[in-house]
Amino acid sequence: MLILVTGVAGFIGSHVAQALLRQNHEIIGIDNLNAYYDPKLKLDRLEGLGNQPNFEFIEGDIAEPKTFERLARKNEIGVIIHLAAQAGVRYSITNPFEYAHSNLIGHLTVLEFARNLKTKPLLIYASSSSVYGNNSVAPFSEAAALNQPVSLYAATKLADEMMSYCYAHLYGLRQIGLRFFTVYGPWGRPDMAYWDFSEAILEGRPIQVFNHGDMKRDFTYIDDIVEGIVRIATQEPVFPIGEPPHKVYNIGNNQPVKLLEFIATLENALGKKAEMEYLPMQAGDVYETSADITALQRDYGFAPNTPLAKGLQKFADWYLAWRSK
Ligand SMILES: NC(=O)c1ccc[n+]([C@@H]2O[C@H](COP(=O)([O-])OP(=O)(O)OC[C@H]3O[C@@H](n4cnc5c(N)ncnc54)[C@H](O)[C@@H]3O)[C@@H](O)[C@H]2O)c1
Repeated sequence: MLILVTGVAGFIGSHVAQALLRQNHEIIGIDNLNAYYDPKLKLDRLEGLGNQPNFEFIEGDIAEPKTFERLARKNEIGVIIHLAAQAGVRYSITNPFEYAHSNLIGHLTVLEFARNLKTKPLLIYASSSSVYGNNSVAPFSEAAALNQPVSLYAATKLADEMMSYCYAHLYGLRQIGLRFFTVYGPWGRPDMAYWDFSEAILEGRPIQVFNHGDMKRDFTYIDDIVEGIVRIATQEPVFPIGEPPHKVYNIGNNQPVKLLEFIATLENALGKKAEMEYLPMQAGDVYETSADITALQRDYGFAPNTPLAKGLQKFADWYLAWRSK
């Protein structure tokens, strides 16, 4: 099958593309290689994809319709996996317009492209656990009514879900939205805490522990996330009868971990102790994330099985090797 992956040079996109290529699918990947974090890391991820015959890369902005006009084989696309976005909660406080551009205009441009394809593709798109804000009851269920985002990032992801529902209602565009819960692993994102912590620990700098360590996160290992996305991309979706063909799923680990426990596990993986600097809660952050994954288990057999210690060891091994290059 021909699959379009947006954000293919990103952390999750590059892993998903690799997994689908291993299953002999053909991949067209789009990414604008922006400098939100070091584009060298994005180019290195692409290097691992670029030498495969079933992979084609298009450098372009998903918020520009002309990017999609360059897709010569667009009428063969069976599935679109839309992961390109401006990620990060904290950066959205200082750079709000980046989020409007990639997450609002970009998402709408992907919807317009998808609904006009003759192939009637399935569109799988990235949402985020941040849509649950601070008032949801743990574990977070997709059934909860959500309208209180606490960061602009979360507001744009909620808006994406609304736009997607609307396109399912108006045009019958089949869609699955995935609320990712703190994904970590090799080839990860330098703006995320586990990367920042690792760098500081190895350099002997104190790590910044927000809300004095009183936080919980549902950390999900990248291979578990990829396994879930591949299942969704390759199985027939189950949509509720008589409703627009749109469903949103949590995709997480269902085992929230306290921040201090996470740091201790990372110390073990890196073989070095951290020096802590305890700080108050940051604007836009949430206290806890916790995924109820029963819907994805029921509909797709999703079963994350990587314990934190194993996943962090894999990250640490990769990070130490990558850093020494
Ligand atoms: N990693 C996580 O823990 C996490 C959690 C919740 C949600 N998500 C969502 O999952 C998706 C993938 O996240 P990731 O961790 O791989 O992030 P990432 O930043 O590594 O990947 C996103 C990729 O999209 C590209 N991109 C951004 N704006 C673009 C644009 N306008 N046009 C073309 N390309 C553009 C970037 O260059 C980047 O390579 C994002 O939508 C993100 O919001 C991730």
